[in-house]
Amino acid sequence: MYRSKITGLGFHVPDRILKNDDLKQWMDTSDEWIRERSGIQERHWVSEKEAASDLALAASKKAMIMAGVGADEIDLVIVATISSDYFFPGVANQLQSKLGLRTVGTFDIKVACSAFVYGLSIADQFIKTGQHKTILIVGAEAQSKYIDLTTRGRDMGVLFGDGAGAAILQQSGDESGILSTHIHSDGADMKNLWMEAPGTSGNNWMNRETLKNGLHHPYMNGREVFRNAVRRFPEVIHEALEENNLSIEDIKLVIPHQANYRISQAVAKRLGVGMDVVYSNIHKYGNTTAASIPIALTEAHAEGRIERGDHIILAAFGAGYSWASAAIRW
Ligand code: COA
Repeated sequence: MYRSKITGLGFHVPDRILKNDDLKQWMDTSDEWIRERSGIQERHWVSEKEAASDLALAASKKAMIMAGVGADEIDLVIVATISSDYFFPGVANQLQSKLGLRTVGTFDIKVACSAFVYGLSIADQFIKTGQHKTILIVGAEAQSKYIDLTTRGRDMGVLFGDGAGAAILQQSGDESGILSTHIHSDGADMKNLWMEAPGTSGNNWMNRETLKNGLHHPYMNGREVFRNAVRRFPEVIHEALEENNLSIEDIKLVIPHQANYRISQAVAKRLGVGMDVVYSNIHKYGNTTAASIPIALTEAHAEGRIERGDHIILAAFGAGYSWASAAIRW
């Protein structure tokens, strides 16, 4: 069995920056409300011409440069996204083509905010068994294209941002690398965070009714999501610690999905650590769903917050509900 290791990281966000006050042109909201409830100050949104695969491409190129890997060396492409360029095929397929790759396997993972950690977990299995040597995993979202930009959708509209983060996973030649991954899901309450249309469950394809009722925009029961998030994040972090006989004091940095600063604060409190141990960059990007963990990981690494030998934990929670963690020795 081989151990897998992240050898390259990169992220890309669109040029267009929207400050909280900029959102007032579409909805009744305020900078104060958004900052207080979420910690968000601004977010990047794609232009009309940009797609999730464009963001994924830019992030991938940076990760490939850091890893010193050419496109011809990549033998699997995984994209974590709920912002598919087209209904099908997936973004990984578009990214493959934009990278000039042919014939290697590609697939998308549609587990929303947990999808990047799911992707890392899947890629880790392929590297461990030796089936693949160099895997590109990307989280990419262009959510601004389908959030409800009216007062009706303001609870979600102010939270979400666009962007992409990418990682190259390869065999590790030493003790560093992914120590464990855990993935979980519970579909019982999936309607607390979902987008009903377009779908094939009854009459929820694109029609006058679905459009009139806004079913083609995401819906969230914020309080319920909050309650579940602050339970599942610590749970799956403890699972990672126990699996590796580590205590929270051994962890240099927890990189959670950037859902909401208040959720991260509550998680830090439950873990018994300060916010210096729980990475946050949500003020700059908002919640970028599957892209948030690889963007945060890339930034934390670039800022020198993660050094060789450090133990870190990636932790995710989101729609589904789904939740996941990865313990890594850098
Ligand atoms: N601007 C101004 N007011 C807003 C608003 C906005 N963008 N969105 C909602 N409001 C209003 C509501 O209409 C409500 O008004 P009312 O009291 O007159 O009915 C009031 O603010 C309070 O709304 P409420 O939903 O109770 O606020 P909250 O304290 O629960 O905070 C969230 C809302 C969304 C910030 C919070 O529930 C949350 O963070 N949930 C988790 C979200 C998340 O992380 N999701 C992604 C998980 S991956």
